[in-house]
Amino acid sequence: MIENRRILLVVSGGIAAYKSLDLARELRRHGATVRAILTEAGARFVTPLSLAALTGDKVYGDLFSLTDESEMGHIRLSREADLVLVAPATADILAKMAHGLATDLATTALLATDKPVMVAPAMNVRMWEHAATRANMATLAARDVTVIAPAVGEMACGEEGEGRLADVSDIVAAVEDFFDTAAALGAANPTEGGSAAAPLRGRRAVVTSGPTHEPLDPVRFIGNRSSGKQGHAIAAALARLGADTVLVSGPVALPDPVGVSVVHAETAEDMLRAVSARLPVDVAVMAAAVGDWRAREVASHKIKKRTDRTPPRIELAENPDILAAVAAAGNKRPRLVIGFAAETEDVIAQGRAKRAAKGCDWIVANDVSPGTSVFGGDENTVHLIRGADEDQTESWPRLSKDAVAARLADAVARHFAAVP
Ligand code: CTP
Repeated sequence: MIENRRILLVVSGGIAAYKSLDLARELRRHGATVRAILTEAGARFVTPLSLAALTGDKVYGDLFSLTDESEMGHIRLSREADLVLVAPATADILAKMAHGLATDLATTALLATDKPVMVAPAMNVRMWEHAATRANMATLAARDVTVIAPAVGEMACGEEGEGRLADVSDIVAAVEDFFDTAAALGAANPTEGGSAAAPLRGRRAVVTSGPTHEPLDPVRFIGNRSSGKQGHAIAAALARLGADTVLVSGPVALPDPVGVSVVHAETAEDMLRAVSARLPVDVAVMAAAVGDWRAREVASHKIKKRTDRTPPRIELAENPDILAAVAAAGNKRPRLVIGFAAETEDVIAQGRAKRAAKGCDWIVANDVSPGTSVFGGDENTVHLIRGADEDQTESWPRLSKDAVAARLADAVARHFAAVP
């Protein structure tokens, strides 16, 4: 619920700035109070007058305006809000935020605020993909800035790709979701001060992540392209909410996440052993891309080329299904078993079928078809399927894997708050 929430809308420069007018109107239509800061560059695209008309409030722009400073200092401005929303967020303002610059009222307020910050980036695709922007986004994500990922499409500059400001309706939905989650987490432990930030304290979690390597001989293996980014982010997000978390990780190139105990596993069988040893837990999230097959026999020496050039025949055996095994673990079954469904077509239907087939409670279904860059990439578009009925499926906008992880961890916290 956005009703009665106070949003400080920071509008930075860029062709998408005109959409901030619609955004301000929509946020107010949902009952929010909107106060805006317009940067100097932003004011080249929208006038303070139109923004003032749509927010129904004075528009702030000049750090050194004496009246603004005496009536409303930048510190108060940034703190008399429940959420600071930067939309559109240009590459420039994101870089300044990442580096803590305070060169104008917008950046000063962003540095001074003690409130949650959400950004909706909009820029040219090359700028969005540039290593500098990637690094700035990673810095901001690590500081818990929520990113509303830009959309893909044709840009004002004529180029095509990712970088368009997310649809106003998606931004409003993300804001709504943010407040709903905050309210649910606050309600989870209303009496204990500070516990809203750790609603999973006292809960045990196990998460699998990454690929498996199934050896053929001492030097070769069957693997897959899973990077482990999503699973690792989920383990970190559960730990951030206070869960005692064990991450069973396949071979990945990622550092062990902070605050999590990590068990390294190579094969599906190793992974199953590590997960079973951790049970019972309250929640299991099986995000690993477990190899479905292994070599029936692993050669003890390197398989050599034959003189007649016929390739070796490798007979495969099916690996254990860790998710299905955990879901069928009898009295050791976790209260909440969450699986992933990596699909390339009919994502939701296949996800629902997989939920039933594996006996898990929730499925996070994602589209991994070529072109989505989900495998190895930093973003994910998922559907959270919590039951067989249509209204038990939530489709989330394209988000960073960290944001998907945070939302999933929040959903887990809400679940335990509702069914303690
Ligand atoms: N999974 C598992 N053990 C396996 C295979 C999959 O725990 N041996 C889990 C994954 O971690 C994921 C879910 O099952 O949570 C679904 O994985 P996915 O690869 O989408 O499905 P598969 O079971 O492999 O089915 P298919 O490849 O036929 O779609």
